[in-house]
Amino acid sequence: MTRPLPGAGLERLQEVAEVRVWPGPGPPDRATLVHELAEAEGLLCLLTEQIDAGILQEAPRLRAISSYSVGLDHVDVHCATALGIPVGHTPGVLTETTADLAFALLLAAARRIVEADSTVRSGEWDAQRSWAPDLMVGRDVHGATLGIVGLGAIGQAVARRAKGFGMRVLGWSRSGRAVPGVDSVELPTLLRESDFVTVHVARTPETEGLIGADAFERMKSSAMLVNTARGGIVDEAALAEALRSGAIAGAGLDVFDREPLPASSELLDAPNLVLAPHIGSASRATRERMADLAFANLPAGLSGEPMPSCANREALERRSARR
Ligand code: GLV
Repeated sequence: MTRPLPGAGLERLQEVAEVRVWPGPGPPDRATLVHELAEAEGLLCLLTEQIDAGILQEAPRLRAISSYSVGLDHVDVHCATALGIPVGHTPGVLTETTADLAFALLLAAARRIVEADSTVRSGEWDAQRSWAPDLMVGRDVHGATLGIVGLGAIGQAVARRAKGFGMRVLGWSRSGRAVPGVDSVELPTLLRESDFVTVHVARTPETEGLIGADAFERMKSSAMLVNTARGGIVDEAALAEALRSGAIAGAGLDVFDREPLPASSELLDAPNLVLAPHIGSASRATRERMADLAFANLPAGLSGEPMPSCANREALERRSARR
């Protein structure tokens, strides 16, 4: 285990396995990971660990991976499948919590909540501006058009919230999925017509840079972008430039190409941008549900049973075929 996790799952796991836990703080470095995986049969990791083909090839006894995340862009699932290693993850249990955060960022950007907070604290909210017609005016969320890029479980959960705000909801997915209450449109149409665009696709080679300079050119200059999916899907340099030039009006980001965000990132100087440190699933209850699922996936994979939530079910077939 590459970090201690909440809940009682560790005790249950210790009944069936010898468990070594990296104590943190922070992830183990690559050399430690390679060293531990020389012997380990199971790995319970976080999205901070890069489980690439090089690591997998140096893990001769590894039979199961369980990631404490829904996203698996940090694991070479293709290579794991070829090696007959099932990869577990935690979809479903974090859907609503992540959708809550997407909406929180959308509201914070639209209504300038972070700026408003510092205006009160800094004393700028003075007698002359105790209530002023132009103080902290933002954008309406209710009645606006929301464009959802990616209509998986989290995108759909955001759509349900948008309906409660009386929004018109447009959606685009690569598979052309139809979702009740969401008008399916092509991506350029979504970008052109939306007041808010929120990103909910997985990071893959096809989605890298999906929202870049072209997208910002298409978006309304009054529009705002939210990304709670993965960094790299949004081109950060193009976003910083779009915010500086006024090509779009604002953004809220929870995920970044490099995490933690380097101090040299140009996003830190970009205006009208609300930032969060990758906390989409960070509610106490959801983090416990994720741990329960991650702890349930691992022993199933070790014993060759189907994991409750597996990203590559075909790995087990591959494993039996290799025997
Ligand atoms: C978080 O980003 C996750 O993939 O669970």
